[in-house]
Amino acid sequence: MQIAGKLVLVTGGTDGIGRQIALQLRDLGAEVIVTGRNAERMARARSDGFEAIAADLTGPDGIEAVLRGLAVRSIDILVNNAGMGAEHDFRVAMPDPAQDERTIWLNLHAPIRLITALMATLQTRPEAMIVNVTSGLAIAPSAGAPVYCATKAALRSYTQSLRAQLKGTSIHVLEALPPLVDTAMTTSRGGRKLSAQACAAQIVEAMRSNADEANVGMVRMLKAVNQIAPWLVRRIMIGF
Ligand SMILES: NC(=O)c1ccc[n+]([C@@H]2O[C@H](COP(=O)([O-])OP(=O)(O)OC[C@H]3O[C@@H](n4cnc5c(N)ncnc54)[C@H](OP(=O)(O)O)[C@@H]3O)[C@@H](O)[C@H]2O)c1
Repeated sequence: MQIAGKLVLVTGGTDGIGRQIALQLRDLGAEVIVTGRNAERMARARSDGFEAIAADLTGPDGIEAVLRGLAVRSIDILVNNAGMGAEHDFRVAMPDPAQDERTIWLNLHAPIRLITALMATLQTRPEAMIVNVTSGLAIAPSAGAPVYCATKAALRSYTQSLRAQLKGTSIHVLEALPPLVDTAMTTSRGGRKLSAQACAAQIVEAMRSNADEANVGMVRMLKAVNQIAPWLVRRIMIGF
């Protein structure tokens, strides 16, 4: 895909992986609109040259806010990046059902709602793309974050159906599967982390080459092993 001249919407484009995707697409000549909530990060996004739409995507009001912000403009690329995840363990405490619902909304409902709302517009564009950011944990879950892993596996499944439906149309569907990346989401986690910039670079490269999947960093190896020994990947990932 030719990035220059495209109008792109990146949800959660004010920080982390989304911000790096936005910056790299901007540097390739795209016009970028980002969404976020935090006022300081929104201001930074504006000084980076992005239009920033304030929207909490844990409910339908946030979707309405994004659509109002876009007004009549036709985007070419939708990057469903905003996401969150909390760990919990039933052996230690009960989860907060409200927190679980917010996670399910942000990680799964919001991408589906945005795709549905923007599909008619995307269909009018000569070259369009939908990018859904899932996770290596969509391939096999960890025990520590059951709701997060379930939302990512569901979004992966949705993305695969969507790609099959849109095959041969002007809308390309890309799934981006990051590994552990050094962002605000993972500050409490140890282990080797990829930089958000390097992660975004691999996602943007997959966009440019119209790949079906961006298997970022270690996820590439995970996918390869999963072809041969899925049981091994499940065993490794469940303890992750
Ligand atoms: N980091 C990793 O290791 C990793 C690994 C695999 C997959 N991923 C996925 O990659 C995506 C980006 O993750 P990240 O690590 O870059 O996260 P991050 O650094 O925490 O950034 C999240 C972005 O989403 C926005 N956001 C958070 N909650 C939101 C809400 N309720 N409504 C609207 N926007 C919200 C944040 O802005 P505000 O806070 O201002 O709203 C921020 O711009 C997510 O889908 C995540 O699941 C991350």
